[in-house]
Amino acid sequence: MVRVVRASQVDIDAAVQALRDGDLVAFPTETVYGLGANAQNPAAVRKIFEAKGRPENHPVIVHLDSPRYLHRWVREVPDTALKLGERFWPGPLTIVMPRAATVHDIVTGGQDTIAVRVPSHPMAQQLLTAFGGGIAAPSANRYGRLSPTRADHVRDELGDAARIILDGGECQIGLESTIVACEGTSVRLLRPGAVTASQLREALGDLLAGPDAQSPRVPGSTPSHYAPSTPMAIVPAGEIDAQAASLSREGRRIAVLAQRLPLKGHKYVTWINAGRRPEQYAQDLYANLRTLDKAGCRQILVQDVPRDERWDAVRDRLLRAASNVSDSDATGAMAVLP
Ligand code: TXA
Ligand code: MG
Repeated sequence: MVRVVRASQVDIDAAVQALRDGDLVAFPTETVYGLGANAQNPAAVRKIFEAKGRPENHPVIVHLDSPRYLHRWVREVPDTALKLGERFWPGPLTIVMPRAATVHDIVTGGQDTIAVRVPSHPMAQQLLTAFGGGIAAPSANRYGRLSPTRADHVRDELGDAARIILDGGECQIGLESTIVACEGTSVRLLRPGAVTASQLREALGDLLAGPDAQSPRVPGSTPSHYAPSTPMAIVPAGEIDAQAASLSREGRRIAVLAQRLPLKGHKYVTWINAGRRPEQYAQDLYANLRTLDKAGCRQILVQDVPRDERWDAVRDRLLRAASNVSDSDATGAMAVLP
């Protein structure tokens, strides 16, 4: 049976034991919950793919408690990566670098690169330090679905696929980490997140580009991802009331994620006002979409968010969640640089 625990040392010890036994442990990070396995045990990492229903050629991030063991995973740490690690780790940044020869293919999806992150969540830190090695962990959700930001989301998504779910409360950031690829002197932004493009530029002195055809694959950046099951559409701010009213005619239930209250009451509309602050909006986004997804509605309408760098990561996830292009139709990496 799965156990959901607020970690004491005893719980951390049990989680470490589970990892050593080759089982899965779900744990909180400051971004979203991860589904972790011992990154040096390919059979254990394979269990992650089974639990998520994720294709095996999609690489997973290796989590470390600090950069001190980076050389075990990375062939050559580029100077740009050193700079970024110093500035943003521990924190919501993932760095893709050339892999070390000993890293298992199941972790890298057979690519020549590895993605590494040092999370700042105290419980993730506690677990990583006690384990003493790398933990391979994607977000703890079924493939293509909303990432979990609370322990009960993990249980709802994955049942007892994890032997232990460590409960660290609600994730503070709520969206997955920023991903950059460092190759030689070039740095590419592959997925926007809480660390913004300007912050990266500032740390690097302007060496930043978007993904190109040669960039490593980021399957999480295929058009349809982070999606609720209810069809979702993004609607200009001025049209949200009218569209909700018109779609809910004849008693069809409609769900709305807006940044203000409705102009008047709509009988068949479930309305969430997620507010105008990008950090709070991001933190609540997946929980709000889960709530709306469960409301038995025909469609979810999301009010378009401001065109401002602070909203880039939110806009990226909303566009993917609203996309009805399936993974198999997707071609290569998408440009994410604003
Ligand atoms: O915030 C996060 O990054 C969370 C927490 C748990 O750390 N993890 C997460 O993992 O979002 P996941 O697997 O759901 O998304 C990671 C993305 C995937 O799109 C994966 O394809 C990409 O990172 N990725 C992993 N290794 C890579 C590599 N070597 N090259 C390019 N992309 C890679
Ligand atoms: Mg994911």
